[in-house]
Amino acid sequence: MNRKGQGGILMTLLFLSMAPAGFIGCGGNRPDPVAVSDEDLATLRQEVRSILRPGCGSCHTTGLPTAKPDAIAAFDFRDEAWSSPMTVEELEGLASRSKELGEVPRSKIELLVGAEIARREMDI
Ligand code: HEC
Repeated sequence: MNRKGQGGILMTLLFLSMAPAGFIGCGGNRPDPVAVSDEDLATLRQEVRSILRPGCGSCHTTGLPTAKPDAIAAFDFRDEAWSSPMTVEELEGLASRSKELGEVPRSKIELLVGAEIARREMDI
């Protein structure tokens, strides 16, 4: 009976020690909403487009022979306000897919995604 009780405590400790890693994993796909001015948002869109273009632009840019219609439907780097039609789910997908690019300035990408999400969810 006593042994059983100790097992429970051990399992609890094991769970607690693993929990923070789980939280960090979830948080990575969901940048925090952040309020930015229209000017800052416009600048961020330009900066993040430059960061993503080499890895993502081939399919996501109208006019290129490699462009894919379904990709353009999600976002189109031809447009200055390319991220403005994106849904929250697509923005989260952008944040997680951009990890495929390796060493890029992630903080800029997450700031843009957070700013776009804030405009959709918090009406700012
Ligand atoms: C080889 C072509 C191609 C490349 C390169 C590409 N995409 Fe896409 N992307 C697509 C297509 C096709 C779709 C629409 C179908 C779908 O949802 O998978 C799409 C849809 C998306 C979507 C919306 C749907 C979703 O998954 O949330 C996001 C966000 C996205 N791409 C981000 C990126 C990012 C970020 C990169 C660069 C790391 C990238 N894509 C590179 C072809 C591409």
